Amino acid sequence: MYENYYGLDSKPFQLTPDPSFFFASKWHKRAMSYLQYGLSQAEGFIVITGDIGTGKTTIANSLLNDIQDDIVAAQIVTPKLSPDELVKMVASKFELDTNQRTKADILKDLESFLFQLHKQGKRALLLVDEAQNLPLETIEELRMLSNFQEMGKPLLQSFLLGQEELQPILRAPNMEQFRQRIVASCHLAPLTDDECKEYIEYRMAHAGWSRGELFSDGAYDRIFQFTHGVPRKINTLMDRILLYGFLEELEKLDEEAVENVIKEVADEMFVPDKPVLQDEGGSNILSEPASNGQVKDVQYYKTMLTELTDALDNAISHKIKLTRYIDNLLKKKYKTYVRLKSDD
Ligand SMILES: Nc1ncnc2c1ncn2[C@@H]1O[C@H](COP(=O)(O)OP(=O)(O)OP(=O)(O)O)[C@@H](O)[C@H]1O
Ligand SMILES: [Mg+2]
Repeated sequence: MYENYYGLDSKPFQLTPDPSFFFASKWHKRAMSYLQYGLSQAEGFIVITGDIGTGKTTIANSLLNDIQDDIVAAQIVTPKLSPDELVKMVASKFELDTNQRTKADILKDLESFLFQLHKQGKRALLLVDEAQNLPLETIEELRMLSNFQEMGKPLLQSFLLGQEELQPILRAPNMEQFRQRIVASCHLAPLTDDECKEYIEYRMAHAGWSRGELFSDGAYDRIFQFTHGVPRKINTLMDRILLYGFLEELEKLDEEAVENVIKEVADEMFVPDKPVLQDEGGSNILSEPASNGQVKDVQYYKTMLTELTDALDNAISHKIKLTRYIDNLLKKKYKTYVRLKSDD
């Protein structure tokens, strides 16, 4: 509707996850690396969690988009599936006939299908989206499927993507066997304020925007404040802001324009009356005033936590290097010792 007015080739803020619009924020990049690392491991489970609308499905679609030829992937977006339904669905996603087949038959077919793939030098990947909806026993069934092996190598690898509720499910005491098969896991957080601006600029440019600054700094601040950096919320709001700019024939969009749109959409989006702030992981935290009467600066803590995570990452990689160095040194010393001993 407004694309012509802004000289765009397409709508920049569609709600459907589109891999061609993939924006690699710090967390998205990290999650993508975990998935790619997982692929290279060719075994076990990779778990990506994240709050609603933070981009889990988008990441999955981007991964599937540029997956190698030797991997045959199937994606399941599950409602609540029983273990038997899961087995049936996995088989039909790999295009096996499940009609009139018992579970035992289907499992046999699945195993021989996976074995055939293996013989052709290929392997199978199962991507389970919305995994927070899977009952415990169904996750357990997934683990059983990962037991199909040939020469000690699993024939099926699975990635689980789900909202935060997936974490307590996987932490349950009886999930130990599953946990031990997780090779990497990662949590997707909402975008920071800088990333929120970059995300908007990226999507606008990708849709063909080429006329310089459209939004003022105040507009970007207000967009971040309202959406908390959650991509889906940003998309919904941005779509309305562009529509507003078109209807009002605005050349620039400032804080006031954004505020007007927020007033319109707040009701439609059923925004809670009481402001709810979110932490780095996207979990809701209290928005009670601090003792000095001001709402705590969440952004400050977010930045601090990000810096802390980076510092810890660095410290860990230094420790690993040091350990390797000491290890080598010990090996050398041991060899010298053995040599001297044999000289004696
Ligand atoms: N990294 C990203 N790059 C581009 N767009 C993104 C990114 N992350 C999220 N989006 C956009 O945000 C919206 C929500 O993303 P998506 O559906 O992937 O979230 P989700 O985490 O799977 O949500 P849910 O928990 O509801 O399943 C989509 O419109 C998608 O295009
Ligand atoms: Mg999703």
